[in-house]
Amino acid sequence: MEQFDFRGMSFYQIWIRSFADGNGDGIGDLYGVYDKLDYIASLGVDGIWFSPIYPSPNADYGYDISDYRNIHPDYGTMEQFRRVLDRAHQLGMKVILDLVINHTSDMHPWFLESRKGKDNPYSDYYIWRDPKWKGETRLPPNNWFSQFEGLAWEFCPERRQYYLHVFAKKQPDLNMDNPRVREEVKGIMRFWLDMGVDGFREDVITYISKHPQLPDGIPFLPAINGLPFYKDGPNLMAYLREFRAVAREYGALQIGEAPMTPVRTALTYLTGGDRVLDMMIQFDTMMADCVMTEYVHHPFSLRKLKRAFSKWQLALAGKAWNALYLENHDHPRVISRYGSEKYWRESGTMLAAAYLFQQGTPFIYQGQEIGMTNIRLNSIEEYRDVATVNAYRRFFRFQSVKKRLRRIHNSSRDSARTPMQWNGSENAGFSPVKPWFTVNPNYPDINVEKEERDGQSILNFYRKCLRLRKRSPALLRGDYREYCPRSRRLYLYERRSPEERILIACSFSPKEQHWKLPKGSREKDGELLLCNYPDGTAAGLLRPYETRVLRFAGETE
Ligand code: GLC
Ligand code: CA
Repeated sequence: MEQFDFRGMSFYQIWIRSFADGNGDGIGDLYGVYDKLDYIASLGVDGIWFSPIYPSPNADYGYDISDYRNIHPDYGTMEQFRRVLDRAHQLGMKVILDLVINHTSDMHPWFLESRKGKDNPYSDYYIWRDPKWKGETRLPPNNWFSQFEGLAWEFCPERRQYYLHVFAKKQPDLNMDNPRVREEVKGIMRFWLDMGVDGFREDVITYISKHPQLPDGIPFLPAINGLPFYKDGPNLMAYLREFRAVAREYGALQIGEAPMTPVRTALTYLTGGDRVLDMMIQFDTMMADCVMTEYVHHPFSLRKLKRAFSKWQLALAGKAWNALYLENHDHPRVISRYGSEKYWRESGTMLAAAYLFQQGTPFIYQGQEIGMTNIRLNSIEEYRDVATVNAYRRFFRFQSVKKRLRRIHNSSRDSARTPMQWNGSENAGFSPVKPWFTVNPNYPDINVEKEERDGQSILNFYRKCLRLRKRSPALLRGDYREYCPRSRRLYLYERRSPEERILIACSFSPKEQHWKLPKGSREKDGELLLCNYPDGTAAGLLRPYETRVLRFAGETE
């Protein structure tokens, strides 16, 4: 079947547990989602990506799946999912689901069988290895660390073997080299595609093919020392081709999550006749204030951010299509990272313009469109995310509690997982009862209802940006060019098509900034399409976190 045109689209991401509670138990659900579909459509997006909504013991909040063909009882029923799907379609929105197939939950029936022994139909569904013995001491098969907690191997006394878990202990990795596992994956895809789902965001899809020997990694590198042996592995392309064949039958969209995959490798998946993925969620643009992970924080560097932006824009130009994002459920809130909580409205709107007009399909994460910011909880006990708690317990242990908590405040995924702030009433209008997780205390100031009423709000700015992008040939399909890449305060980029040229100026500075247009353009010749300050513009000067979007007719050079 022919694929729909995802290039002109934009998506809204829902992490359901914190989106909207429709049945009053403190947990977000599909009843809440149903009620908010008109709101989502009002943003001007064309699709929704749901983080996992399947049954899960929630060791990693849905990314540990115990049943691939069902809905988590906390979130509703299959019938309710169908209602959401139909209504979203009526409103002109596509629906894509998270396909998490690098691992399952340890409570998945496959694993419960697999762990029993070496001679049942599920024995080879996971990656089991014998212990290594050093005299009497039992050791794991290699020295890999898991990304979430401790070693990547867990001993199972029943089977007298270790199983591999690249993430949490309760997330055993599937053995994708087993053809039966790949058939299961295809069956799961068909199950949802037959129902009318439009595609998948594929979780850590570049991890599914492991190096056959599982060699030791660098001993002193924490958390990711095994990465070279499970990322972009030897059979990855072959497996992705198999899944692609299924997606093609339905014209389904496939977006792969690819932590730390370099752009050159990304191109192998995104281009060519047998393009196996439509878009890729890269991580480079998440690293402008950290090294490898937000937990190893450094001050925000605009130049680092711009290098990442332009690298992907230029490398994919004319060959592949970008997935654009600044937030999702795995990263802290972007205003708190790359913007300024002090210049909250200004930086929140500027950041929107800094990425929505690049080449690619934008993704907006729930709460991003109203400028939600990081939460700063008082003790580690108040955090819920397994990766956060583990980072706190294992790393930088010599530092004071205060410093370690500051690291958590800067890095925790939980900042993206506080309940959505719908209005100024109790519990931010998320739920009539105490929600499952702390509401950010800033909800009286930052909420949907308040921003709906304010023409200058972040919410309404997102709407304007998406509308503008939709009707501009240059923003949709034009070339990308960056000016003054060395500036530490200004991001200046341009999109150019035969019809028009659009210049986007973004100040990342809390002070006024002088700026010059690129040679050959004069500010007064441009039509000001957007600005995040209400009261006109001063030529040559950008106010704190100001953004201006200017249109010039035709080509100038
Ligand atoms: C992906 C998900 C993340 C999850 C991890 C393990 O990175 O986005 O939330 O914890 O994979 O499934
Ligand atoms: Ca609920």
